Amino acid sequence: MATNFPPPTLPAGFSRDRQQGDFLKESFPDDFAWGSATSSYQIEGAHDADGKGPSVWDTFSHEPGRVECNHNGDVACDHYNHLEEDVQLIKNLGLKHYRFSISWCRILPTGDPSNVNQKGIDFYNRLLDCLAEAGISAMVTIYHWDMPQALGDKGGWMNAEIVDLFKEFARICFEQFGGKVKQWLTLNEPMVFALLGYGFGMHHPGQRDFFGKGCRVIHHLILAHAKVYHLYEASFKEKQNGRVGIALCSTWNEPRNPNSEEDRQAAERAMRVAMGWFAWPIFKTGDYPEEVKTGVAAVCEKNGIKSTLPEFTKEEMRLNKGTADFLGWNYYTTSLVWSPSEAEKVGPTPFSQVAQITGSVDPEWKRGKCMFFHVVPWGIRNMANWLTKTFPSVDIYITENGYSDEGQLDDSDRVDFFRNHLNELLKAIRLDGARVKGYYAWSLMDNFEWSNGYNVRFGMHHVDFTDPKRRRTKKASADFYKHLVQSNGFKENE
Ligand code: BGC
Repeated sequence: MATNFPPPTLPAGFSRDRQQGDFLKESFPDDFAWGSATSSYQIEGAHDADGKGPSVWDTFSHEPGRVECNHNGDVACDHYNHLEEDVQLIKNLGLKHYRFSISWCRILPTGDPSNVNQKGIDFYNRLLDCLAEAGISAMVTIYHWDMPQALGDKGGWMNAEIVDLFKEFARICFEQFGGKVKQWLTLNEPMVFALLGYGFGMHHPGQRDFFGKGCRVIHHLILAHAKVYHLYEASFKEKQNGRVGIALCSTWNEPRNPNSEEDRQAAERAMRVAMGWFAWPIFKTGDYPEEVKTGVAAVCEKNGIKSTLPEFTKEEMRLNKGTADFLGWNYYTTSLVWSPSEAEKVGPTPFSQVAQITGSVDPEWKRGKCMFFHVVPWGIRNMANWLTKTFPSVDIYITENGYSDEGQLDDSDRVDFFRNHLNELLKAIRLDGARVKGYYAWSLMDNFEWSNGYNVRFGMHHVDFTDPKRRRTKKASADFYKHLVQSNGFKENE
């Protein structure tokens, strides 16, 4: 079933007039890191090969009706069997950086840390060696949503025991691959995963109880992240000399009326909830921001219950604080936010749970971001500046940014997306002093787009999912990105 995509038009309030200044013809800093990103379940396939255990996404995608057209990641891009070819794709783009994730159940088929699958270890060692040979450094995500099913059966992230099990998985990753990896990300977009999995029911485990369950899941994710950070610091850092960060995602939240103090406060609150739920404990105080505490309490009070937000102990706060050497930030789009009093008039939005905390979030955003996100290049500049101001002295890497369509080779809309976002990012770095050190385009190739299956394509390379060989073909955006990377920016005469 083909998906109909609306043209990337902007709703009222998203007009170009919020973009400041002309196109900037300048280069990025000399040491700017150019890369591309993927994740294990989305590309690897080989779902039951060589001792790999089932992941929660193997199971979830096999349940009828969970994913569009009942697609699944059994074969996906078959990257498991195209590793060398895929590294060549990265090399052909002229990139020196590549972000990928490790499948937990390929390493630990049941999640039991004493039962290691050597063939899984061999696969990632081959990938890392092949990248090194091609002069490409790896940024490795330890968790991009594909937990072993056996751990899912025990409650997954809802079960407090997961915190130490995740730490043990990370320990094996550091032991086995740490000599070859300088940048680690503990978790990918934990907020998105908690919201979609426990709030909107679109992702595994398909639940709709964000305040009851999602808040607890988030609590465990933060504790797990912090433990892994300390593990690396204490046992690996000195020898391996790498850095540990986390990949967080938030839309830029723009006040609907920039002249309204109420709207501006609502937008700032939205940032502190969406980004701050994780970033405050990790980069600032060790604890949740006040906006999350009062917001969750208010929503619960409306429902006649006590706040469902778990509390960190003093010791946990101490452990959480300062547990990232850099911030990975995934940017896709921007939301318009307005004050709660105005929001009441608009009525409930599809994002109502979070909207209740923050003021209202763009009600025109009817579906998940993959299908219907608004293209707002200036949002990347505003948010890069907000992050730099809010977390001063933290190095920021854009660990994902990309555009979805139906997979056509002449993907001029994706070219425009990259050109405009990267120019706004350049302005943030050159004109405003934003501390962004690198950019990983999402994605190297078309892949399994979670609940949208293969109907939504983000790749710079087309993958023919009807071909048993999964032929890869470069799109126009691959040539564009390669040229931009080669020039390290935008030249005067172009
Ligand atoms: C995720 C990716 C996903 C992308 C596009 C991010 O939320 O990290 O796995 O494919 O956005 O939706």
